This record gives sequence, structure tokens and C-alpha cells, in this order.
Amino acid sequence: MLVLGIETSCDETSVAVVEDGRRILSNIILSQIDKHAIFGGVVPELAARSHLEGIIQVIDTALRQAGVGLKEIGLIAGTYGPGLIGGLLVGLSAAKAIALSTELPFIGVNHVEGHIYANFLVHQELVPPLLCLTVSGGHTNLVYMPEFTKYQILGQTRDDAAGEAFDKVARVLGLGYPGGPYIDRLAAEGHPVIQLTQTDALANTYDFSFSGVKTAVVNLVNSYKQKGRPIPQADLAASFQEYVVSVLADRTFRAVESLGVHTVLLSGGVAANSQLRARFKELGAERGARVYYPPLELCTDNAAMIAACGYYRFCRCGPSGLDLPANPRLKLA
Ligand code: KG4
Ligand code: ZN
Repeated sequence: MLVLGIETSCDETSVAVVEDGRRILSNIILSQIDKHAIFGGVVPELAARSHLEGIIQVIDTALRQAGVGLKEIGLIAGTYGPGLIGGLLVGLSAAKAIALSTELPFIGVNHVEGHIYANFLVHQELVPPLLCLTVSGGHTNLVYMPEFTKYQILGQTRDDAAGEAFDKVARVLGLGYPGGPYIDRLAAEGHPVIQLTQTDALANTYDFSFSGVKTAVVNLVNSYKQKGRPIPQADLAASFQEYVVSVLADRTFRAVESLGVHTVLLSGGVAANSQLRARFKELGAERGARVYYPPLELCTDNAAMIAACGYYRFCRCGPSGLDLPANPRLKLA
């Protein structure tokens, strides 16, 4: 079955055609990053307007590149949350309108669940049970997935998402937006020699907290500035990144041991981080777990993952109603 996926929850207008949840025929991503970069973050109204301007052309391009028409499509999948309400409404309305006019079934997809399915598009051997760490600009979840579309949330962030912390630390260091890739590159030039936090108060849980380490960086930068001393940018980036990676690894590999799972998935924008990928591969090899992550272009937001997730959900639970509302705060059930 061919699925047309539509994703507009943040600052990428994306439409994809995916076969049977596993094979990408097209995956068009119109990024708005340049429009938001001058503001240092995503401006919701600007994002919504840009989705509206781009969506029709992106749908046309995705179909053309896949070499199919709507007649060949079997299901329309659209993100209905979580995300920015203005953007969600654009993509969801487009998905419903196509479904209504073509009499195709429609399915609403949870964006965070979608991130997990990016892995199934490239690792054909993957099947549950799995442990998934989803780390993005808005979410940090450690989830056990016993079978397709079933989830048990083991841990989540108590404050900032991992990507949000990367973006804020990059901003205070005067780097660009989004900050993750800048920190990733800068950290490679430094050493993790600066102690940013004393204790890990959540060490006995599977939950995460990143606001403390972020504030520590902000305070240190301010004190260097006040004293007129040069800011050790690369060492700060390396120390911050080391902290985040070690906390993510600690929670994940403790869960690997206690649940006895042998497969770990990384997903979400922060899964593009080179140190995170390397550390997880290393620890996986040591602890007897296979570690998978998507290629860089499928880590960040894209519609192929939404189409893949929509396919598995539709096969197990059937279609959504056309009255499904957008839900900016949608949780992973
Ligand atoms: O999944 P995503 O595209 O959007 C959300 O659903 O939030 O994730 C975007 C986040 C941003 O915070 C960005 O800074 C982060 O992913 N990111 C990275 C890297 N590339 C993107 N964080 C760390 N290292 C990277 N290489
Ligand atoms: Zn995302």
C-alpha cells in the first residue's frame, strides 16, 4: 500500500510517499530554517504562514517524484500533534481535504511516535521488541515498544527537552540556530574538562533533566563576560555535550539491562549528534545490544516517518475520523 504522509508540526513542510511503511518513494522537505534563524528560534505565526504557502507545491512535488498520482495512493497520513497549532492545522486540513475529495482513508499520526518509525524505513530487519530513545527539540522519551504501535513510557524529561537545551546553550555561546549541529562541531574541537553539575538527582530513575546543566553554562558564560575573560567555547560545548550524552546513555543502558532487550533505537533531531551515535554504538557492542539510528536526513522532521507510522497504525487500528482535531500537546499513549 502506498501512503501519502504530511508533516507540518514545526518548521519543515514535508510530504512523502512510502510503500508498506518501509520503502521511501519520495520525501520532500521544505525547510523554513533560514526564515526563523534571524529570530533565534521558530516563530509560530511565520511557520504557519510558510506551511500554507508551500504545502500544495510540496504535495505535487512528492507525488511527481514518486511517479504516482493520487489514484495509486491507498492512505493519507497527517501529523495531528504535538507541535505548533497553526502549522498542525495546515497539514492536517490538507490531509483531510485530500482524503475527503478522493474517498481515501485518513489517519492522524503522533509526531513523536512518527520519529521512531524513521528507523523502520532504513533498517529492514528491525522488528519489536525494542527500546526507543526519542530526543528532539520538543521531546525526550525513553520508551519500551513490545510490538508495533504499543508503547510503555519508561522515562521523560522533567524540564527541557534535550534538543531545546542544545539550542539554548548554542544561543548563549553566540552560535547559530538550530544549535545542535553547531555544538556538535564545536565540541569536537574541545575537551569535556569543565564540571557543569555536581550531582544527578534523577540517577535512580529513567527520567531526564537538562535545565540545570543549561543554566550552569549560562552562568559560567556570564561570569567570564563580567571578568572580561575569553570564553572557552569549545570546552564548554564539549562538557555540555558530554553531560547530555552520558545521561541519555545511563538511562537507556540501565533499561536495556533491566528489561533484557537486545535492540535499541535512537530517533529525533538530537539522534543526529555524532557523539551520541558513537557512544551508543560503543555501549551497545559492550552490552550485547544492537543499536540503530536513522541517517541524518531522517533524524530531523520529515513526512516519510509520518507515512511509515501511519501505515502501521492503520493496519492495526483502522482509519481516524475526519473530525480528528489537531492537538498541540498530544501525548504518546
Ligand atoms: O526532531 P526535530 O527536527 O524537531 C522536533 O521535533 O523538535 O529536532 C530538532 C532538534 C533541534 O533542537 C536541533 O538543535 C537538534 O534537533 N539537533 C541536534 C543535532 N542536529 C539537530 N542536536 C544535537 N546534535 C546534532 N547534530
Ligand atoms: Zn520532530
